[in-house]
Amino acid sequence: MDIEVLRRAPLFASLGDDVFAALTEELTEVDLSRGASVFREGDQGDQLYFIVSGKIKLGRSAPDGRENLLAILGPGELFGEMALFDPSPRNATATAVSETRLAGLRHENLRALIETRPEVSVQLLQALARRLRRTNESLADLVFSDVPGRVAKALLDLADRFGRPATDGILVAHELTQEELAQLVGASRETVNKALAEFVQRGWLRLEARAVVILDVQRLRQRSR
Ligand code: CMP
Repeated sequence: MDIEVLRRAPLFASLGDDVFAALTEELTEVDLSRGASVFREGDQGDQLYFIVSGKIKLGRSAPDGRENLLAILGPGELFGEMALFDPSPRNATATAVSETRLAGLRHENLRALIETRPEVSVQLLQALARRLRRTNESLADLVFSDVPGRVAKALLDLADRFGRPATDGILVAHELTQEELAQLVGASRETVNKALAEFVQRGWLRLEARAVVILDVQRLRQRSR
């Protein structure tokens, strides 16, 4: 397994090579194709997962079948740890949005590591605090921002994490369908399509299959405020 990306993850950065090597012995590799789920909301679970490559969406469904995406995670990020700290069923469904490789770790193994290396729990707390901050921000945006503002913000966030320089801007291969993008910003696909079409018409971005090229970051940032 290519665990270089995990070696660089903040959670493990402080560990010596020997401790990290022992930990990697406990990891199990999971390979997923687009659309495959790792677990579903409500399942019991005793493992957490690190993303080695690819992307995972975390979503929740309403009783009427509508879906909301809580987050899109990429390489180096982890999920499935909530049940370790607050034993309860899975809080969301985790699904691959592209070819994805994960490294699974049993909760009991992380618990043992935390007990011997308290600095790992400080890193975990930081990751949880960062997630809460992002969630608060999304909640405020749902109340205070309009749909085009939320779409602009989501694209900039995806660009920060997955963007690569292109000849005329920043290529963001987010791998999401427009339906998934709509679930991420909490709006209908029609409204999100309209917002994207308006950004295209203004020359701020170009649409590609499951990707966008951001041509004018500054304008998009202004629109996201
Ligand atoms: P767990 O409840 O074990 O399984 C679902 C996982 O989704 C959960 O652990 C977290 O790792 C992750 N998760 C839940 N809510 C959020 C959120 N708001 N942002 C990012 N990840 C989340």
